[in-house]
Amino acid sequence: MKPGWSGGPVLGVESSCDETSAAVVQDGRVLGHVILSQDAHERFGGVVPEIAARAHLRQIDEVVAETLTEAGVGPRELGGIGVTAGPGLVGALLVGLNWAKGFAWALEKPLVGVQHMEAHLFANSLESQDARPPFVALLVSGGHTLLLHAAAWGSYTLLGQTRDDAVGEAFDKVARRLGLGYPGGPEIERVAREGEPGRFKLPRPMLSARHTPADPAYFDFSFSGLKTATALLAAELESQGGTGLAPSVPDLAAEFQQAVVDTLVAKVLRAVEWTNCDRVLLGGGVARNGPLRERLSDALGESGRLYSPSPRLATDNAAMVACLAEHRLRAGEVAGLDLNADPSLPFPGLTPLDSLANRGVELRGAPCIPS
Ligand code: KG4
Ligand code: ZN
Repeated sequence: MKPGWSGGPVLGVESSCDETSAAVVQDGRVLGHVILSQDAHERFGGVVPEIAARAHLRQIDEVVAETLTEAGVGPRELGGIGVTAGPGLVGALLVGLNWAKGFAWALEKPLVGVQHMEAHLFANSLESQDARPPFVALLVSGGHTLLLHAAAWGSYTLLGQTRDDAVGEAFDKVARRLGLGYPGGPEIERVAREGEPGRFKLPRPMLSARHTPADPAYFDFSFSGLKTATALLAAELESQGGTGLAPSVPDLAAEFQQAVVDTLVAKVLRAVEWTNCDRVLLGGGVARNGPLRERLSDALGESGRLYSPSPRLATDNAAMVACLAEHRLRAGEVAGLDLNADPSLPFPGLTPLDSLANRGVELRGAPCIPS
């Protein structure tokens, strides 16, 4: 493999869950991008790891070939290759990672491994030049719920995270309980349009007014209780006989979605107030949710700024991977052939809030203007 990057388009490969994707990015511009979502999981109501890994293996050659054709870039013209190294399903990750390693080795191109959640942070910068730090970010996907402050690329403070289910996971599980399809987020959003929030009452978790920024609960999330409360209401409706659960599904879905959005928006506003930074960036599959985007945008008002990715760049995709890889290669980073998949790869440069305070670093009042 080549020791370093000397310019040229970057190929990104993503296979951490159930999307096989490749993209070619140059100077933050997407030249080619293919995403193949696996629908084989639908009937199981969730991603089956073994099926995902096998599907990646079947699809990856074709996905990359199509991407290069779309980009009009031959393999030898590539400047480097970036691949998701984690977190994710280990079997799925290994397919993309080993494929990228082999490709980089054969073509003598530099390779870099990227962290999937950090890549979600970079998705917006493909569409908006000024979607760069400093900002407050809410990353909401099927596996993670993170609220962080980015002072600069690679320098992040973790303000809050979920203590149990990720928000996308809660959408998926509630949808399943209500007899809706997979993935659950878009299904709940669709059905909720026919319903009214408020007919049923669900909790707004971790929103106690007694908490102060010194309590971890001030910025943290929890969705497991909300999920159970929805399931209990569903069971109660089923046990009442008569028409059963079906006629109430739209109202239940609407109340569930409203409870999630209320919680997410409130926590983001706490972060905005605390960091004194009203530039907010959304990322991850749940960033597709219309009510979440609308409510956040309204809450930030005229003076604030919300960066939210277009639907294709919100859910898993390789363009965000290539964008982060280009950033990394430009900074001189290159992986060796010992690069391995890590299903729980930590978020690089992410410091927990309490250890920052212990070191006497003050985040509040830091300038909120991109440099
Ligand atoms: O980021 P992503 O594609 O994969 C992970 O890295 O997990 O996120 C997938 C998640 C799923 O849980 C899916 O239900 C959720 O994003 N999602 C949505 C919507 N579209 C996708 N959740 C709420 N509303 C949506 N419109
Ligand atoms: Zn993701």
